[in-house]
Amino acid sequence: MKKKTVKLTLYRYAGKFLFFRIKNRCQECDITYVILQRLMAEQLHGKPVSLEIVPWLDNFWKVIWRGGWHAPILTVNGKVFSQGKVPDIPKLLSTIGKILNDTSLIQTGEVQLEKAASLEIESEITVYFSPACPHCRQLLSYLDGNGIKYLGRDVTKSESARNEVERLTGRLAIPVIVAKGEIISSFDRNRLKNLFGISDDNEKVVKSDSRKIIPQFTDSQLRTIYQKARNVLDNNWIEGWTMPSNRLYPHLWNWDSGFVSRGYLHYDPERAYTELRSLFRGQWSDGFLPHIIFNPEYTNHFPGPDYWKADNSGKVPSGIFTSGISQPPVHATMIVDSAKLDPDKERALSFLNEIYPKLKKLHDYYFTERDPHSENLVSIVHPWESGLDNAPLWDEPLAAITNTSEWALSMKNKYDELAEQGKRPKRTYIEKYSYIIENLYKNNYNWGKILENHPFLIQGVLFNSIFCKSEQDLGKIAEAIGYDANIHYERADKVKKAIDKKLFDKNEGIYYNFDLVQQKHIKRDTIFSYMPLFAGIPDKNIGKVVLDSLRTHCFCIVDMDCVAIPSYDMCQVDFDGEFYWRGPVWVNINWYLAQGVRQYGEAELSEWIENSLIALADRYGFYEYYDPDSGKGLGEKDFSWTAALIIDLIARRLVS
Ligand code: GLC
Repeated sequence: MKKKTVKLTLYRYAGKFLFFRIKNRCQECDITYVILQRLMAEQLHGKPVSLEIVPWLDNFWKVIWRGGWHAPILTVNGKVFSQGKVPDIPKLLSTIGKILNDTSLIQTGEVQLEKAASLEIESEITVYFSPACPHCRQLLSYLDGNGIKYLGRDVTKSESARNEVERLTGRLAIPVIVAKGEIISSFDRNRLKNLFGISDDNEKVVKSDSRKIIPQFTDSQLRTIYQKARNVLDNNWIEGWTMPSNRLYPHLWNWDSGFVSRGYLHYDPERAYTELRSLFRGQWSDGFLPHIIFNPEYTNHFPGPDYWKADNSGKVPSGIFTSGISQPPVHATMIVDSAKLDPDKERALSFLNEIYPKLKKLHDYYFTERDPHSENLVSIVHPWESGLDNAPLWDEPLAAITNTSEWALSMKNKYDELAEQGKRPKRTYIEKYSYIIENLYKNNYNWGKILENHPFLIQGVLFNSIFCKSEQDLGKIAEAIGYDANIHYERADKVKKAIDKKLFDKNEGIYYNFDLVQQKHIKRDTIFSYMPLFAGIPDKNIGKVVLDSLRTHCFCIVDMDCVAIPSYDMCQVDFDGEFYWRGPVWVNINWYLAQGVRQYGEAELSEWIENSLIALADRYGFYEYYDPDSGKGLGEKDFSWTAALIIDLIARRLVS
């Protein structure tokens, strides 16, 4: 007897037919896609069930005669099972179970059906929301305005509410409304109108709290803010280099120094050069550039030199103390305009001549030592190498590290003690961070050996975009001083292609980091996913798709209803506007994004971002980061890169 099989086909709202091409996203299609993928990997794993995902518009004629009109359309062995909405998963499981005569599947389906029913008995309409998510606020005001009663569940207060969101939709994004057997995971007025029978005449439309106003400044206001920013840098400048801030960060940090040099170029170019000379004094003999060069005045910083044991490498310049991980190579980009900005052109060219071999050595290092499978993508070996220390991007890769060591545990205890005393901020992952670092120093910072079996290895979107742009700019520097520029342009092109090929997710219209240990993309919707824009990586068409995706997520792009762009999608259940790298506005990231969107035709958005940054500094001061909703300054006060990049923005305005 022939074995029974089940063929599932999902027709997503995408594709083209003759001159038509679908550009918009259909959220139900995305959710259905995620749920089905998950189902295949979990309940249907090992069962004779196949899943095919096809773009609807290219294939619509295959289902239309079976009654399938509205994507997402799911067919089971050719028959339309559901359309126009997320399919009923328990029912799907029991249908498949019945075809396959698989009692366990039928039972799983029935148990889930019962659970779903009890959820609805509790309340007819449930809305999952968080106070920070703008689409949630719009949805709640809409329901209130139209007199619809609901049970609101705040996902920031209830773990079970978060779990329900994931169970119902297969993702961790809000708002979600469950009503009359439907699940709607966005603020979709048309669907709400249909669902609740609201007529055009009776509909109460709530005005969104848009701040779509581009802050404007007079030249004299700009000069005052510029002067304040200079004061911040001047106060943080000590003996040839700049502290990121004088309390928590009294050492020299790698990418901070790069940003800071950009600020100095505008008013004291000699200092910009001195800053970078100081940073490159810490460059190891293999070209590696550490993320911290320690200030010998502050010997009791934790984690300090004995934590990193960088000397094990035998590559650290003598008399210098450094960490053993790096940070994004922003430097070439920050100084590429020296010859234009420095009134003493000779001096600028002579500095570029001096720094070029060091920069080249650094870039060579990344190509040769950090690309284990020769894919033209740099891998980072620790979350902090990204510069985005605490981003949600690292949660999954860190969760996958289950080993530990005595040393890692002792470091965690030491850190916890300092945090208790208020000397360091509280951190969750110190033990895992330390476990990763142990593998570096135990292998004497022999990168080849480390990469063979390292617990954390990620091809990052932001890191590689910065690297790509820096290679382009190193090419320009090489040209200016008479070196071969092609090697850099060619390498930049290779990285660009590799980012597009490996890190771009066509279905989502977004770039994702790739985890080489777990061999999968890290699908977290952070703003860093859009950084390829500033490096000119996507072509015009892909650029449009990426911008569409940026608009559909909660990054305040459409209504501009934040103080600037947050670092994490505000409609994610674990968004936190005050916790570093998990939501707040960062000036350096916004600075990159503004340049990126401008290159792809969004001049107004770009101007709004840049002017909003200046307004933030003016109103609240030069903070490390800001709450995207209230604008409150957070983290360190008088933070160097914030001041430096504001100087850059203002200088451009005063000149033009
Ligand atoms: C934090 C940031 C990092 C920065 C450092 C110094 O660790 O995450 O990007 O370089 O502070 O400012």
